[in-house]
This record gives sequence, C-alpha cells and structure tokens, in this order.
Amino acid sequence: MISWWRRAGVRVRSTVAATGLLAVLVVSGAVVGLVVLRSALLSADAESSSVQARLVRLSVTPGALAGEPSPALRAAVGADVERGSHVQVLAPDGSVVAASAALAGHAALSSARPGVSELVSEVVPLPELGRPAPWVVSVAGARVGGQRFWVVAAESTVDAQRVLRVAAWVLGVGSPLLLGAVAVSTWTFVGRSLRPVEAIRVAVRGITSAGLDGRVPVPAGRDEVSRLAVTVNEVLARLEASQAAQRRFVADASHELRSPVATLRAAAHVWAAGAEPGFVELVGSESARLESLVDDLLVLARADGGRLVAAAVEVDLDEVVEVEAARVRSLGGPPVALAAVPVRVVGDGPALGRAVRNLVDNAVRFAASRVELGLAAEDGWAVVRVGDDGPGVPEAERERVLERFVRLDQSRQRRAGGTGGTGLGLSIVAEVAAAHGGSVRVGARPGGGALVELRLPLGQPPSAASR
Ligand SMILES: Nc1ncnc2c1ncn2[C@@H]1O[C@H](COP(=O)(O)OP(=O)(O)OP(=O)(O)O)[C@@H](O)[C@H]1O
Ligand SMILES: [Mg+2]
Repeated sequence: MISWWRRAGVRVRSTVAATGLLAVLVVSGAVVGLVVLRSALLSADAESSSVQARLVRLSVTPGALAGEPSPALRAAVGADVERGSHVQVLAPDGSVVAASAALAGHAALSSARPGVSELVSEVVPLPELGRPAPWVVSVAGARVGGQRFWVVAAESTVDAQRVLRVAAWVLGVGSPLLLGAVAVSTWTFVGRSLRPVEAIRVAVRGITSAGLDGRVPVPAGRDEVSRLAVTVNEVLARLEASQAAQRRFVADASHELRSPVATLRAAAHVWAAGAEPGFVELVGSESARLESLVDDLLVLARADGGRLVAAAVEVDLDEVVEVEAARVRSLGGPPVALAAVPVRVVGDGPALGRAVRNLVDNAVRFAASRVELGLAAEDGWAVVRVGDDGPGVPEAERERVLERFVRLDQSRQRRAGGTGGTGLGLSIVAEVAAAHGGSVRVGARPGGGALVELRLPLGQPPSAASR
C-alpha cells in the first residue's frame, strides 16, 4: 500500500489526497447537517402540536368532561383537522371525551399524563392514522372545576420528512459532483504545474558530459519550479566551466611536458652519436625541469582532489623563512634581507615550505640587486612578505599571474637560462594558501619591484617555554 502510494506520483497522490479529505469533510458535514435539520424540524412540529393542545385546553368545560362537549370545544377540535393535526380530550379516568373526526373511536394516543400546566411531547409511529411518517404527540395537563384532564394533540411529521428527503437528495447528488470537480481540477492543476519539471528532466537527460553547454528551460514566474530551473542551470554552468578548466589544464600540461621530453630525446641521439661537450649539463637541466614540472602537476592534482594539506600540525613559519633565506645565500643568490618574528600556524609543513620557496624563487629570479623576506603577525594573521627590486608585476596582471601556466614575459624567462618557469609556481602558492584558509596577493614594493604577500590564519601563539 505504502509502496503503491510512493510509486503513484505527485499527480495521483495530490488528487487522491485532496478528494479524499474533501470527501471526509463533505460526508461528516452532511451527516451533522441532516441530524441538526431533523431535530429542528421535529421540534417545530412538537411546538405546533403543543400549541394545539394548549388552545383546545381553553375550550374544555366541566360539562365536556361529563360527556357533553360544548360547541366551542367541538369547533376547536374540528378546526384542527383542517390543519393536518388530530386532537383528543381525555377525562380524569383517561377515557376520550372529545376527538377530531379521524380519531373517532380511537383510544388515547399517548399514555403520558403530565401534571397540571405541564406538557410532554414524544415522537411515535401511528400507522393507524394513515401516514407512514411518525407523529409528534403532545399531551397537556389541565384542571377545570376541580377535575384533571388532558389534551392530546398529534402533529404529522410528513412535511419534515419531505424536507429531510429533499436535503438528503441534494447532498447525495451534489457531493459526488463537488468531489468530481475537485478531483478533476486538482488533477489538471497539478499536471500543469508539473509539466515544466518534466521538461527540465528531459533537458537534463539530454545533456551529456560531451556537451555541458545545454541548459534547461526556465518557466516564467518566480515560483519553486523556475528557481529549480535557474539553480540547475547555474550548476550546469559551473560544471561546464570546471570541465573547460580541466581540459585546458591537461592541454597546457601536455604542451609543457613536450619540450623537455623532446630535448631529452635529442640528447639521447647525441649520446648515441658520441658525446658532445655540454650535453651532460643539458640532459641534467632538462631532467631537472621535467622533474619539477611533474612535481608541480602532482601538487596541483592533489589540490584539485582536496588533498593538498596532508597534515594539520603546528608549523613554525619563522623556521620556514629562515631555511629559505639560508638556501638562497648558500646558492649564491642576491643578498637577502630577513626580518622575521616567531609565528606559529597550523597546517602542512612541506606544503607551506613549498609555497614560501616558490615566492622566494620568483623574487630571486627577478631581483635586480636584493630580496627582502619578512614575517609578521598582524590581526590574527601570519603574513609572509617576499619583495624584490626587479621589474615588478603590472597592476593589470596581478590577479592573472596566480592562474596556472600564466607567464608574463617569455623572452625574459628564456634569457634566464632555460630554467624559466612553467607558470605554475604562484598557482601552487594560491592553492596552498586557500587550503590553509589564507590568501596570496601580488602587489608593488615601495621603491620599485614586486611584493607578494602570503596570509595564513594564526595558530596557537608560540609560548616562551616551547621555543
Ligand atoms: N617577483 C616577481 N617579479 C616580476 N614578475 C613576477 C614575479 N613573480 C612572478 N612574476 C610573474 O608571474 C609569472 C607567474 O609566476 P609563477 O611563479 O606562477 O610562474 P613561473 O615563475 O613563471 O614558473 P614556475 O614558478 O612554475 O617555475 C611569472 O612568469 C612572472 O612573469
Ligand atoms: Mg615561479
């Protein structure tokens, strides 16, 4: 049952639910209405019979009780016949002393004998009076000349029954019509509302990974369905963009790998033909370039998989920058001015070391005469600043150089001795920064050159004891 209900679909479920609920309401409303109507009609009949009884009571004289009805009583009893009701006057012993024509010779209609000035009414079947509907019989107690007597008035409920029958008929015919109308309109309305959803489903199914450029139709208006369509389109656009970036990345990577591999193959030919002076250095430098390129690609692939930060341990950033400064000095690079305070962050030590090294490598490569390396703690951030007095990065390119495979001046790099980068260094810095909840910004150094700022959220401040 439940699985049928789930499988039935929104349209069937809405229709069944709306119609079923309305059916319950209509049936219970009809039952309550008919019951209330019936009791109202019967009490109207009881009221009218009690009025009759009271009226007749006024015409009863002591003589009438002795068996000689006065003309007034006869008239009162007879008048009632025309109005579809019957009257009896009962003597103190319960015998009938006067009655409407239809009740001639009939015993008392009721056995109730209320006290003086009291009145009781009851609904009783009286088939002998010739009508199938039950009668409302009212008995009024009275006293005249010291004798008690009762007036019995019987009022047919045939009119009330007729009204009830008509009401039941109207409800019996009208309710199914109403339920049918609700079912049809719910079915139609829900079907119409779901049509755009079906269109979206069909459109999404038609969109394959080969062509993410398709979009689903957005229905007019700002309802849930059109918002769904807009969201689906936004997701498709993001998927398409990321797929395009992925393809570009693979294309760029293969392009970059081609030239060192070609150089190495050429070198192998040279090797076969007999070593030439300088070729060992060439093979060495190209293999090194190949190795660092493959390294960078691996790092970026890991970053794309969200696995860049392998560990979250406390890292002393001041040690990281000190190691970098020492490395530059040992390689005989430009003089490095180091200004570092003790700063500790939480993250992946090798990844952070790699980020700082990439910045320092750039600075060393572009510096005219000096490299500045700074580390400070500012407003909850650890800030690594790497500056140089080289040509700097034009303002318009400062965002773009953070992208993968972006190099600004090819000729400048070639001149830098074949080890010119592939344009991945800063993009790796950006990935490392983002993975640590930080950021990197390329700017201008006061006094000329580039100044790159790497910001990382501060970890626990290093305590004096642990240092
Ligand atoms: N300190 C700097 N001064 C001037 N230009 C810079 C500096 N740092 C980076 N750039 C420019 O930004 C570009 C991108 O730098 P990035 O470090 O990403 O790549 P790369 O150094 O060319 O290659 P890789 O770092 O992958 O070996 C560089 O090619 C260079 O044009
Ligand atoms: Mg670089």
